[in-house]
Amino acid sequence: MANSNTQFTTRLGVIATTVGSAVGLGNIWRFPYEAGMHGGGAFLLVDLFFIFIIGVPVLCAEFVIGRHTGANIRGAFRALAPGQRWGWMGYLSLISAIGILSFYSVVAGWTLEYLFASLFSYSSSFADASESALHSRFASFATSDVRPVLWTILFLIANYFVLVRGVTKGIEKVSNWLMPLLFILLLAFCINSLFMPGAAEGLRFLFYPDFSQITPSVILGAMGQAFFSLSLGLGCMVTYAAYFNSRVPLIKTAVTTAILDTLVAILAGMIIFPAVFTFARQPAAGPQLIFEVLPSIFASLPAGRLWSSLLFLLLFIASLTSTISMAEISIAFFQQECSMPRRRATLLTIAAAMFFGILCALSFGSLSSLKIFGLTIFNLFDYVTSNIILPIGALVISIFVGWKLPLPLLTSSIS
Ligand code: PFF
Repeated sequence: MANSNTQFTTRLGVIATTVGSAVGLGNIWRFPYEAGMHGGGAFLLVDLFFIFIIGVPVLCAEFVIGRHTGANIRGAFRALAPGQRWGWMGYLSLISAIGILSFYSVVAGWTLEYLFASLFSYSSSFADASESALHSRFASFATSDVRPVLWTILFLIANYFVLVRGVTKGIEKVSNWLMPLLFILLLAFCINSLFMPGAAEGLRFLFYPDFSQITPSVILGAMGQAFFSLSLGLGCMVTYAAYFNSRVPLIKTAVTTAILDTLVAILAGMIIFPAVFTFARQPAAGPQLIFEVLPSIFASLPAGRLWSSLLFLLLFIASLTSTISMAEISIAFFQQECSMPRRRATLLTIAAAMFFGILCALSFGSLSSLKIFGLTIFNLFDYVTSNIILPIGALVISIFVGWKLPLPLLTSSIS
């Protein structure tokens, strides 16, 4: 696998790409609203437990499988357990990678809508809008048919142009530029929030655990959040580790990824909750928290348009570096298992995600009455992939590494 454009070339590249995959809407959009709905500090505590006690070992397991085989997820299982039927894991990963990519791109599309509204129609969209106007703006946009679909398509086209350039020139290069920018933007927002009058209350909500809030559903939600946030259980980190050279220290990389990923989730909380308490909003507003609450808050600040544009730019960057990692699972699969050229593998992956992404986008609008097992298409994709397939995938990977890999291979890989 050591030919050109098929390996990450620098240590920064390795960290930027793995952290780029881990840090995404899961940290900046999902973590604050989940924490907001589940007692703040209590949720954070359980999330930290799952990230460091279960997440880091599973991340190491994925790295070992990927780096040792240098193969896509199906090829990796087959290489390590020839003649045994582990290859099905590859199909499960392929299907769920395209599933997650589809619904995730819809939310990423929303961030593009809000980025453009911030840039080009800031006053009418946000600055002069009341809280209820912001609420109905989000609802009428998400339930309409044309714009959410167009943004989803546009977002996936952006993915295509990064991915088609390959591992080093596309994925690594873009991550090297965008991840430092993301951290700078996050810090700027965090400093801004810490000066708000509601900062102390917001930080208390985020960091002070009320143990009575730790219920089975909080535990389950935090486990799902930890896996989703570290991109585990799908074979994403197996695929990326196939591009690591033999000198990359796996445990160190896993721990650094987990620390930076957690840091971003905490920073996102430190940005949002001080603002929520300053402006007397509901922390438990749910998935629309960031889309409804933050624009109205920025409207009251000097240079609100700039803040608002930067926030949605930040979300777009975070989404893009994650979706390219999901798509890469499928691209590596098609390239290696079906001997497809990269361009065709990329096209097929993006076209499949576009098809299902459009259905997901429409499931808020004209397909909203179409329910499968009582869920809309978007919710079904989200639920089945995040709550069922990721934990099962993580379990299978752990069992595989624990029971099937020869111990010397494991110890030599991680030492
Ligand atoms: N870790 C990403 C996030 O937190 O937004 C989501 C993700 C990326 C999940 C890649 C799964 C995956 F394979």
